[in-house]
Amino acid sequence: MRLIQSKLPLHVGIIMDGNGRWATRRGLPRQLGHREGMKAVERTIDALLKFGIGVVTFFAFSTENWKRGKEEIDGIFSLVRDYLKGNRDYFSNKGVSVRSMGALSKFPKDLVTELEKAKGDTKDNKNLILNLALNYGGRDDIVYSVNKLIKSGKKEINEKDILDNLYTESLPEPDLIIRTSGEQRISNFMIYQAAYSELYFTKTFWPDFDEKCLKKALLNFQKRNRRYGGIK
Ligand code: IPE
Ligand code: IPE
Ligand code: MG
Repeated sequence: MRLIQSKLPLHVGIIMDGNGRWATRRGLPRQLGHREGMKAVERTIDALLKFGIGVVTFFAFSTENWKRGKEEIDGIFSLVRDYLKGNRDYFSNKGVSVRSMGALSKFPKDLVTELEKAKGDTKDNKNLILNLALNYGGRDDIVYSVNKLIKSGKKEINEKDILDNLYTESLPEPDLIIRTSGEQRISNFMIYQAAYSELYFTKTFWPDFDEKCLKKALLNFQKRNRRYGGIK
């Protein structure tokens, strides 16, 4: 089976799950699972560029992930920081534009600095929007949007007002959401934007995810009949 360009999703959301279990099953510390997970992010971005996908959102850290131990949390932040630092040339050579969503105030300064630099340096790049969901929660996103609307003085709001003021701003809603590791839930990821997303679950742990896995998900997506409540 071949990928058909006109049937590819514009925006893919990825719930990268299973880093911890990948490591534990090998008798390794969870941090090594996260480290391998970053390699899977790099592989997946290569593949997304190859397949001509325009927008990807990686769920990297949720508003609920603060429940984890400090060591694990700090380990994840270091990996994200190092990833951004180590891929500056890649982003410019490949035309990747970095964005993020989620409040950054609780993050370490070095990570925020690196993220802001990446965003500024890559804002005009056109091939792939790489959106990192950091301290992101779908419920928090809705609250953020509604608060913005209240501050603007609105007395009554509609669905589009909420949508336009979410962290995703002008990004299209995700057409396809992939979750790895066999769990079949959304875990507070883009709950408003995902109203009509196609969901794809795979048992593969995130550190094992690669171009082949992505292609399989995209081929599966191409076969879906998206009806949006109508008849087709
Ligand atoms: C996903 O892997 C990475 C993050 C949530 C940051 P997990 O760390 O959740 O891995 P499991 O689910 O414990 O295997
Ligand atoms: C979802 O994974 C969050 C991210 C991938 C960042 P979790 O591992 O946190 O989700 P639950 O706790 O299994 O629902
Ligand atoms: Mg998990």
